[in-house]
Order: sequence, then structure tokens, then C-alpha cells
Amino acid sequence: MTKQPSPRRSFASDNNAGVHQEVIDAIAAANKGHVVAYGDDPYTAAAVAQFKKHLGKDVAVYFVFGGTGANVLGLQAITKSYQAVICAETAHINVDECGAPEKFTGCKLLSVSTPDGKLRVEQLKPLLHGIGFEHHVQPGVISISQSTEMGTVYSQRELKALAGFAHKNGMLLHMDGARIANAAVSLKASIKEITTDAGVDVLSFGGAKNGMMYGEAVVFFDQKSGEDFKYIRKQGMHLPSKMRFIAAQFEALLSEDLWRRSATHANRMEQILASELKKIPQITITQKVESNGVFAIVPKKYVAQLQKKYFFYVWNEELSEVRFMTSFDTTEQDIAEFVNLVRQTVK
Ligand SMILES: Cc1ncc(COP(=O)(O)O)c(C=O)c1O
Repeated sequence: MTKQPSPRRSFASDNNAGVHQEVIDAIAAANKGHVVAYGDDPYTAAAVAQFKKHLGKDVAVYFVFGGTGANVLGLQAITKSYQAVICAETAHINVDECGAPEKFTGCKLLSVSTPDGKLRVEQLKPLLHGIGFEHHVQPGVISISQSTEMGTVYSQRELKALAGFAHKNGMLLHMDGARIANAAVSLKASIKEITTDAGVDVLSFGGAKNGMMYGEAVVFFDQKSGEDFKYIRKQGMHLPSKMRFIAAQFEALLSEDLWRRSATHANRMEQILASELKKIPQITITQKVESNGVFAIVPKKYVAQLQKKYFFYVWNEELSEVRFMTSFDTTEQDIAEFVNLVRQTVK
């Protein structure tokens, strides 16, 4: 047997957390007998029904293995290679997907500098000047992350403004919802209110960061734009043969409000962590804490010392800005121990 690492929880990422016990139980419960592979099974049908309950009966839902795949393939389905995808400079599709969106869509990403990870209509207008001009890429999609990579959250009004702007200008709105649950909880909204009702066209619906083992969903709000997706998914190597195990996890998340309980807990833990860190004068919080991530400037000399005990990411080397994240299983005790260490280190 491989030596097990210590079970201590860190604040590096919600991806570093394990799997929620209710999800494990759902996987175990689905592990009975044989069912048809590739999604033609009762578990997948039940999970899709849950998505329809949450998002509306007209959505088309496709399960994939991971978040990068969901983004890339969802974007591929709604773009042509001469188009451009507008996104924030900090967007996962821009910085953390190794160029896969460009490779698979053929599109240029037009990234917009934004201090809090959010796009605003005013910033996007200048990007439309080349519409109809054959020498320029044609903006086809605005892609936003909800919640953002900077831990901030778009309000319903902001979402509607972006969707309205996109549609008025012949574009679609794509949402990277790797942390959609944290955003909905933060806004005290249903998932439908911040997706379907806000005018989102394609959504990557996150599972892993909300306590699943793996698996995300690509959701099309207009079934027509998802018509070819089954081919795109297979060609993009994201058609899971044992689909029932992703489906069972989503059913666990969506049928009993587990998605909300886990995200509420993670967000609440982040508020506690942020309020404790704020009391330490050597630390400066740089972003609004609206979901389960806190960004803070920690003087460089302390970062390496802290990292010896707790792994976490430096977000901006120049500023020595780091990210601390909480997850469904963070405890107040974890926070107390961590903050204690920070206090001792910076003293
Ligand atoms: C905003 C965002 N989108 C998408 C992803 C999906 O990533 P992965 O392909 O690792 O599942 C992540 C993962 O960290 C993320 O933070």
C-alpha cells in the first residue's frame, strides 16, 4: 500500500478536498449490476431530470469528465474558427487551460484586463469595432466565470446586462460555472435565476469543486445550439463510457440540496477565514470575499515559511498576492489552526 499523506486540510483549492460522503454513497449505490454504457441508463436519465428541475425543462445536458473539457467543448459547439471569445484576462480559459480553447475552437481569445475578474459592458464595446470587417476576428461569444477566478460574483443585474449586450450584438453568453453553486449561495439565488433567467446560453456546470469526485456538465439553454454536441463530445474525448457514475454524483448533489449545503458551508468558512486574516495587520485582503476564495497580499518573506506547513498558491508573484480557498469540508478548527500559524509567522 502507498503511504497515505497526512489527512490535514489545506487552503490551496477546493479541488484539493476529498469527496463528500453523500457522493461516495451515491457512487456505491450506483455500483450494482450492468446498465447500458455511454449514458443510455436510468441514472443518467434521473440526473438529467434533476438538471431540468433546476434549470428548466428545455435545457440539453451533457456530462463530461472535467471542467476544462466542459469549457472547451461547450465553446467549440457555439463558435466558428474565425470568431473570437471575449473573456477576462484572469479567466480559466485564458490562463489555465494550456491553450486548449484556442486549439479546439480555432478562435482567438480577446482577453480584457479587469481587476476583480469581472467583465463589464463598457469594457466590451471597443472590441466590437471590427464587426463585419473581414480582416478582423468576429466576436462570437462572451465567456464569464461565475464565481470568478478572483472569488467575486456577478449580480443578477450584471449578468442580465452582459447577456443583453451579447445578444444585441449577435453574440452568445458562455458561463464557466465551475463554482456556480458558490455563486448562487452568495447571491441567495437559485441556480436558475443566475443562468436560465439571466440569459446564459451555454454553461459549464461544476461538480468537482462542490464535493464530487469528478464530472461536470455542459448545459445548453437553447437545445438547437447543442444539437451537434454529442459528436463534439465524442470527438473531444469526453464521452464517459461509465456515465452512470457521473450521473449518480450529480443526482446526489441536485436532488437533496447537497449542492447548496456544501457551498453555503464553504462560503461561510471563507467569511470566517477572511475576518480572522483581516485582524492581522501585515496581511491585506485584495478582493471582495463573495464566495469561497480569499485573495491577500502576504509579504514575500512569510510566504515560503507558511508554505512549508500549508500548501497554497501564489496568485501574483510581483504583488505577493496569494489565494486561500475553503471547501465543503473546511472546519472552524482548520481555520483557527491556520490563522494561528499565520499570526506566529508574521509576528
Ligand atoms: C474557474 C475554473 N474553471 C474551470 C476549472 C476546471 O478545471 P479542470 O479541468 O481542472 O476540472 C477550474 C479548475 O480549477 C476553475 O477554477
